[in-house]
Amino acid sequence: MVLQTDKITKNFGGLTAVNRVTMQVNAGEIFGLIGPNGAGKTTFLNCVAGSYRPSSGKAFFAGHDTTGASADAMCRKGMSRTFQIPLPFPKLTVLENVMVGAIFGSESHHDKPAQERAREALAFVHFPLPEDTPAERLNAVQLKRLDLARALACKPKLLLLDELASGLTTGELDDMIHLILRIRDQGVTIIVVEHIMRVIAGICDRVMVLQYGTKIAEGTTRDVLNDPKVIEAYLGESELGH
Ligand SMILES: Nc1ncnc2c1ncn2[C@@H]1O[C@H](COP(=O)(O)OP(=O)(O)O)[C@@H](O)[C@H]1O
Ligand SMILES: [Mg+2]
Repeated sequence: MVLQTDKITKNFGGLTAVNRVTMQVNAGEIFGLIGPNGAGKTTFLNCVAGSYRPSSGKAFFAGHDTTGASADAMCRKGMSRTFQIPLPFPKLTVLENVMVGAIFGSESHHDKPAQERAREALAFVHFPLPEDTPAERLNAVQLKRLDLARALACKPKLLLLDELASGLTTGELDDMIHLILRIRDQGVTIIVVEHIMRVIAGICDRVMVLQYGTKIAEGTTRDVLNDPKVIEAYLGESELGH
Protein backbone atom coordinates (compact mmCIF):
# COMPACT_ATOMS: atom_id res chain seq x y z
CA MET A 1 0.00 0.00 0.00
CA VAL A 2 1.45 3.36 -1.00
CA LEU A 3 -1.01 5.80 0.56
CA GLN A 4 -3.61 5.34 3.25
CA THR A 5 -5.79 7.86 5.02
CA ASP A 6 -7.80 7.35 8.19
CA LYS A 7 -10.78 9.71 8.64
CA ILE A 8 -8.81 12.63 7.23
CA THR A 9 -10.69 15.91 7.76
CA LYS A 10 -10.04 19.53 6.81
CA ASN A 11 -12.14 22.40 8.11
CA PHE A 12 -11.95 25.98 6.88
CA GLY A 13 -13.80 27.88 9.61
CA GLY A 14 -17.32 26.45 9.53
CA LEU A 15 -16.81 24.65 6.21
CA THR A 16 -15.75 21.01 6.22
CA ALA A 17 -13.99 20.71 2.86
CA VAL A 18 -12.84 17.11 3.50
CA ASN A 19 -14.90 15.03 5.89
CA ARG A 20 -13.49 11.85 7.52
CA VAL A 21 -12.16 10.33 4.31
CA THR A 22 -10.68 6.85 4.73
CA MET A 23 -9.10 5.31 1.65
CA GLN A 24 -6.06 3.53 0.33
CA VAL A 25 -4.04 3.49 -2.85
CA ASN A 26 -2.16 0.33 -3.79
CA ALA A 27 1.29 0.21 -5.35
CA GLY A 28 1.27 0.43 -9.13
CA GLU A 29 -2.32 1.54 -9.58
CA ILE A 30 -3.78 4.56 -11.28
CA PHE A 31 -6.34 5.80 -8.79
CA GLY A 32 -8.99 8.29 -9.93
CA LEU A 33 -10.37 10.98 -7.62
CA ILE A 34 -13.54 12.56 -8.95
CA GLY A 35 -16.43 14.66 -7.71
CA PRO A 36 -18.32 17.83 -8.58
CA ASN A 37 -16.60 21.24 -8.35
CA GLY A 38 -15.91 22.16 -4.75
CA ALA A 39 -16.17 18.53 -3.58
CA GLY A 40 -12.81 18.72 -1.80
CA LYS A 41 -10.54 16.93 -4.29
CA THR A 42 -7.75 19.50 -4.28
CA THR A 43 -8.05 19.98 -0.52
CA PHE A 44 -7.68 16.22 -0.06
CA LEU A 45 -4.48 16.24 -2.14
CA ASN A 46 -3.24 19.23 -0.15
CA CYS A 47 -3.81 17.29 3.10
CA VAL A 48 -1.87 14.20 2.03
CA ALA A 49 0.92 16.12 0.24
CA GLY A 50 1.74 18.42 3.14
CA SER A 51 0.33 21.69 1.76
CA TYR A 52 -2.34 21.66 4.48
CA ARG A 53 -2.20 20.17 7.92
CA PRO A 54 -5.38 18.09 8.32
CA SER A 55 -7.77 19.24 11.06
CA SER A 56 -8.05 15.62 12.20
CA GLY A 57 -7.40 12.10 10.94
CA LYS A 58 -4.19 10.51 9.76
CA ALA A 59 -2.26 9.96 6.55
CA PHE A 60 0.30 7.21 5.93
CA PHE A 61 2.73 7.23 3.03
CA ALA A 62 4.80 4.15 2.21
CA GLY A 63 4.03 2.66 5.61
CA HIS A 64 4.94 5.72 7.71
CA ASP A 65 2.65 8.10 9.54
CA THR A 66 3.16 11.34 7.61
CA THR A 67 0.25 13.29 9.10
CA GLY A 68 1.18 16.98 9.22
CA ALA A 69 4.56 16.53 7.47
CA SER A 70 5.57 19.52 5.35
CA ALA A 71 5.24 19.61 1.55
CA ASP A 72 9.01 19.63 1.03
CA ALA A 73 9.40 16.65 3.40
CA MET A 74 6.71 14.73 1.46
CA CYS A 75 8.49 15.52 -1.78
CA ARG A 76 11.81 14.22 -0.42
CA LYS A 77 10.02 11.05 0.73
CA GLY A 78 8.82 10.47 -2.84
CA MET A 79 5.44 12.15 -3.28
CA SER A 80 5.26 14.79 -5.99
CA ARG A 81 2.37 16.55 -7.66
CA THR A 82 1.16 18.84 -10.36
CA PHE A 83 -1.14 21.77 -9.65
CA GLN A 84 -4.57 22.68 -10.99
CA ILE A 85 -3.05 26.12 -11.71
CA PRO A 86 0.70 25.70 -12.29
CA LEU A 87 2.85 28.51 -10.87
CA PRO A 88 6.40 28.11 -12.18
CA PHE A 89 9.15 30.65 -11.49
CA PRO A 90 8.32 32.96 -14.42
CA LYS A 91 11.81 34.42 -14.91
CA LEU A 92 13.57 31.06 -14.79
CA THR A 93 13.94 29.00 -17.95
CA VAL A 94 12.08 25.78 -18.66
CA LEU A 95 15.19 23.77 -17.73
CA GLU A 96 15.79 25.71 -14.53
CA ASN A 97 12.19 25.21 -13.41
CA VAL A 98 12.48 21.45 -13.88
CA MET A 99 15.87 21.45 -12.10
CA VAL A 100 14.06 22.75 -9.01
CA GLY A 101 12.21 19.43 -8.95
CA ALA A 102 15.40 17.47 -9.57
CA ILE A 103 17.24 19.24 -6.75
CA PHE A 104 14.52 19.21 -4.09
CA GLY A 105 12.85 15.91 -5.00
CA SER A 106 13.22 12.34 -3.76
CA GLU A 107 16.44 11.81 -1.81
CA SER A 108 17.05 8.38 -3.27
CA HIS A 109 17.76 9.43 -6.85
CA HIS A 110 20.73 11.74 -6.75
CA ASP A 111 22.84 9.45 -8.93
CA LYS A 112 23.14 11.96 -11.78
CA PRO A 113 23.52 15.76 -11.88
CA ALA A 114 20.24 17.67 -11.49
CA GLN A 115 20.58 19.18 -14.95
CA GLU A 116 20.76 15.76 -16.56
CA ARG A 117 17.75 14.50 -14.62
CA ALA A 118 15.81 17.64 -15.59
CA ARG A 119 16.65 17.10 -19.27
CA GLU A 120 15.48 13.50 -19.04
CA ALA A 121 12.14 14.62 -17.56
CA LEU A 122 11.64 17.22 -20.32
CA ALA A 123 12.41 14.62 -22.98
CA PHE A 124 10.05 12.12 -21.34
CA VAL A 125 7.09 14.54 -21.55
CA HIS A 126 8.13 15.58 -25.10
CA PHE A 127 8.37 19.21 -24.05
CA PRO A 128 7.83 21.17 -27.28
CA LEU A 129 9.96 24.31 -26.70
CA PRO A 130 13.71 24.94 -26.27
CA GLU A 131 14.92 24.39 -22.70
CA ASP A 132 16.15 27.98 -22.41
CA THR A 133 12.66 29.46 -22.97
CA PRO A 134 11.62 31.61 -19.98
CA ALA A 135 8.61 30.04 -18.24
CA GLU A 136 6.69 33.33 -18.52
CA ARG A 137 6.39 32.77 -22.30
CA LEU A 138 4.50 29.47 -21.97
CA ASN A 139 0.80 29.06 -22.72
CA ALA A 140 -1.56 27.21 -20.37
CA VAL A 141 -1.08 23.79 -21.98
CA GLN A 142 2.72 24.15 -22.08
CA LEU A 143 2.67 25.22 -18.42
CA LYS A 144 0.87 21.99 -17.48
CA ARG A 145 3.47 19.92 -19.32
CA LEU A 146 6.29 21.86 -17.63
CA ASP A 147 4.64 21.23 -14.28
CA LEU A 148 4.48 17.51 -15.07
CA ALA A 149 8.17 17.46 -16.05
CA ARG A 150 9.05 19.23 -12.79
CA ALA A 151 7.01 16.72 -10.78
CA LEU A 152 8.65 13.78 -12.61
CA ALA A 153 12.13 15.21 -12.02
CA CYS A 154 11.37 14.77 -8.30
CA LYS A 155 11.47 11.00 -9.06
CA PRO A 156 8.24 10.23 -7.19
CA LYS A 157 6.97 6.89 -5.92
CA LEU A 158 3.51 8.50 -5.86
CA LEU A 159 2.50 11.21 -8.32
CA LEU A 160 -0.61 13.36 -7.76
CA LEU A 161 -2.10 14.93 -10.91
CA ASP A 162 -4.66 17.70 -10.30
CA GLU A 163 -6.73 18.28 -13.46
CA LEU A 164 -3.73 17.91 -15.71
CA ALA A 165 -5.88 17.26 -18.80
CA SER A 166 -8.25 20.22 -18.52
CA GLY A 167 -8.09 22.58 -21.49
CA LEU A 168 -6.52 20.03 -23.85
CA THR A 169 -7.83 19.31 -27.34
CA THR A 170 -8.87 15.74 -28.19
CA GLY A 171 -5.49 14.96 -29.78
CA GLU A 172 -3.58 16.45 -26.85
CA LEU A 173 -5.80 14.44 -24.51
CA ASP A 174 -4.79 11.18 -26.20
CA ASP A 175 -1.12 12.17 -25.85
CA MET A 176 -1.64 12.92 -22.16
CA ILE A 177 -3.40 9.59 -21.54
CA HIS A 178 -0.52 7.78 -23.24
CA LEU A 179 2.00 9.75 -21.18
CA ILE A 180 0.27 8.93 -17.88
CA LEU A 181 0.28 5.22 -18.80
CA ARG A 182 4.01 5.43 -19.61
CA ILE A 183 4.69 7.01 -16.21
CA ARG A 184 2.85 4.15 -14.50
CA ASP A 185 4.83 1.65 -16.55
CA GLN A 186 7.96 3.12 -14.97
CA GLY A 187 6.70 1.91 -11.60
CA VAL A 188 5.08 5.13 -10.37
CA THR A 189 1.75 4.96 -8.53
CA ILE A 190 -0.59 7.76 -9.65
CA ILE A 191 -3.62 9.61 -8.27
CA VAL A 192 -5.54 11.37 -11.03
CA VAL A 193 -8.00 14.16 -10.19
CA GLU A 194 -9.91 14.74 -13.37
CA HIS A 195 -13.24 16.01 -14.69
CA ILE A 196 -12.87 14.44 -18.11
CA MET A 197 -14.54 11.06 -17.78
CA ARG A 198 -12.79 9.71 -20.85
CA VAL A 199 -9.51 10.02 -18.98
CA ILE A 200 -10.90 8.41 -15.82
CA ALA A 201 -12.66 5.56 -17.66
CA GLY A 202 -9.65 5.02 -19.93
CA ILE A 203 -6.82 4.74 -17.42
CA CYS A 204 -7.99 4.32 -13.81
CA ASP A 205 -7.91 0.96 -12.03
CA ARG A 206 -10.00 2.24 -9.14
CA VAL A 207 -11.88 5.43 -8.40
CA MET A 208 -13.04 7.34 -5.32
CA VAL A 209 -15.84 9.90 -5.47
CA LEU A 210 -16.12 12.88 -3.14
CA GLN A 211 -19.25 14.98 -2.69
CA TYR A 212 -19.34 17.87 -0.19
CA GLY A 213 -16.06 16.54 1.22
CA THR A 214 -17.46 13.07 1.94
CA LYS A 215 -16.54 9.84 0.19
CA ILE A 216 -19.68 8.51 -1.52
CA ALA A 217 -18.09 5.69 -3.51
CA GLU A 218 -14.81 3.81 -3.95
CA GLY A 219 -14.17 0.75 -6.10
CA THR A 220 -13.30 -0.43 -9.56
CA THR A 221 -13.77 2.23 -12.22
CA ARG A 222 -16.60 0.33 -13.88
CA ASP A 223 -18.56 -0.20 -10.66
CA VAL A 224 -18.14 3.38 -9.49
CA LEU A 225 -19.13 5.00 -12.79
CA ASN A 226 -22.29 2.86 -12.87
CA ASP A 227 -23.19 3.57 -9.25
CA PRO A 228 -26.55 5.41 -9.05
CA LYS A 229 -25.24 7.56 -6.13
CA VAL A 230 -22.40 8.74 -8.34
CA ILE A 231 -24.62 9.44 -11.33
CA GLU A 232 -26.94 11.39 -9.02
CA ALA A 233 -24.02 13.45 -7.68
CA TYR A 234 -23.15 14.46 -11.21
CA LEU A 235 -26.70 15.33 -12.36
CA GLY A 236 -26.57 18.80 -13.81
CA GLU A 237 -22.87 18.48 -14.55
CA SER A 238 -22.17 17.85 -18.20
CA GLU A 239 -18.92 15.93 -17.86
CA LEU A 240 -20.10 12.43 -16.95
CA GLY A 241 -20.34 10.14 -19.94
CA HIS A 242 -18.21 12.31 -22.21
N1 LIG B 1 -7.83 27.71 1.49
C1 LIG B 1 -9.16 27.65 1.58
N2 LIG B 1 -9.85 28.44 2.44
C2 LIG B 1 -11.20 28.37 2.53
N3 LIG B 1 -11.97 27.55 1.81
C3 LIG B 1 -11.34 26.72 0.93
C4 LIG B 1 -9.92 26.73 0.77
N4 LIG B 1 -9.59 25.81 -0.19
C5 LIG B 1 -10.75 25.25 -0.59
N5 LIG B 1 -11.79 25.81 0.09
C6 LIG B 1 -13.19 25.41 -0.06
O1 LIG B 1 -13.25 24.00 0.16
C7 LIG B 1 -14.16 23.39 -0.72
C8 LIG B 1 -13.45 22.35 -1.54
O2 LIG B 1 -12.56 22.98 -2.45
P1 LIG B 1 -11.59 22.18 -3.39
O3 LIG B 1 -10.83 21.20 -2.59
O4 LIG B 1 -10.80 23.19 -4.16
O5 LIG B 1 -12.61 21.42 -4.34
P2 LIG B 1 -12.37 20.65 -5.73
O6 LIG B 1 -10.90 20.55 -5.96
O7 LIG B 1 -13.06 19.33 -5.56
O8 LIG B 1 -13.07 21.47 -6.78
C9 LIG B 1 -14.78 24.51 -1.56
O9 LIG B 1 -15.99 24.89 -0.96
C10 LIG B 1 -13.73 25.60 -1.46
O10 LIG B 1 -14.32 26.86 -1.62
MG1 LIG C 1 -9.68 21.23 -7.47
